[in-house]
Amino acid sequence: MTFPAQRPRRLRSNENIRRMVRETVLSVDDLVYPVFVTHGKGVARPVESMPGVYNYSIDMLLRHLEEAARLKIPGILLFGIPAAKDEVGSEAYAEDGIIQQAVRAIKEAFPEFLVITDICLCEYTSHGHCGLIRDGRVLNDPTLDLLARTAVSHAAAGADMVAPSDMMDGRVGAIRRALDEEGFESVPVMAYSAKYASAFYGPFRDAAGSAPQFGDRKAYQMDPANSDEALREVWLDIEEGADIVMVKPALAYMDVIRRVKDEFGYPVAAYNVSGEYSMIKAAAQKGWVDERRIVMETLTGIKRAGADIVITYFALDVAKWLRE
Ligand code: PBG
Repeated sequence: MTFPAQRPRRLRSNENIRRMVRETVLSVDDLVYPVFVTHGKGVARPVESMPGVYNYSIDMLLRHLEEAARLKIPGILLFGIPAAKDEVGSEAYAEDGIIQQAVRAIKEAFPEFLVITDICLCEYTSHGHCGLIRDGRVLNDPTLDLLARTAVSHAAAGADMVAPSDMMDGRVGAIRRALDEEGFESVPVMAYSAKYASAFYGPFRDAAGSAPQFGDRKAYQMDPANSDEALREVWLDIEEGADIVMVKPALAYMDVIRRVKDEFGYPVAAYNVSGEYSMIKAAAQKGWVDERRIVMETLTGIKRAGADIVITYFALDVAKWLRE
């Protein structure tokens, strides 16, 4: 049966009917808000390439998070900017590291937040790579111990979930075992499973000062050309104990999000990364696009592709718009 019996426009003719047949609904429940925390007091340092994003000291971050709490954003994802960096990224797993301090403060002020911590060394290493270096190469297995130590120290500080973003082989298993041994068996792992070697992380590296000092991340992050490989990465992470799997970035990888969702039926997070944020911000500032509509369309698209969780720097705006 086709036209004129079938007229798809009937179901688009007014907002009520559109609401009834809408397939994808973006909700505040889907959002995770990434934030950058640094040492000091009274610090709110704007990130130049990410308008509206700041490096906050803990006191200022707590103030900023009041709005996120009011808007009932369920999760925040913490990135730390250490006071000093070294070859082995010591502050990542230091008892009084910036993340450890921030987690304690946030959990005390806002016990309702799901506090997620990024597990990686690149923000803490002097060379800016995500693992230990020998002869110009990133070592895999010796890095695993440090990642596991980092995860345990975050959990001990009160983190509700850990999110390894380093892309070392076997890290989810190493982190899972270490958490279990220390009595944190109920702390979930959200694994950056299919994390691509992407130019879209540029502004984040400004924000976190984490650009590699030599070479690039192509020997550990994935080749943007591959999606079968993404399924293998996700499968390995699930085998090793991942509870939530992530695809990152989101927009150039919508097909990967869909394949991962269809293949495994696991909760899928998609990271709407810094470059994706900055491109919209820049175009909107020029008056070339309607920021609100572009953001809502983008995030709805990410959900429609199969994401259950959307990690986005737009989380506060979106939560506000969803209330209007
Ligand atoms: C750390 C990490 C990165 C991002 C999240 N965790 C940067 C990188 O891999 O270089 C990027 C997030 C973003 O661009 O918003 N490994």
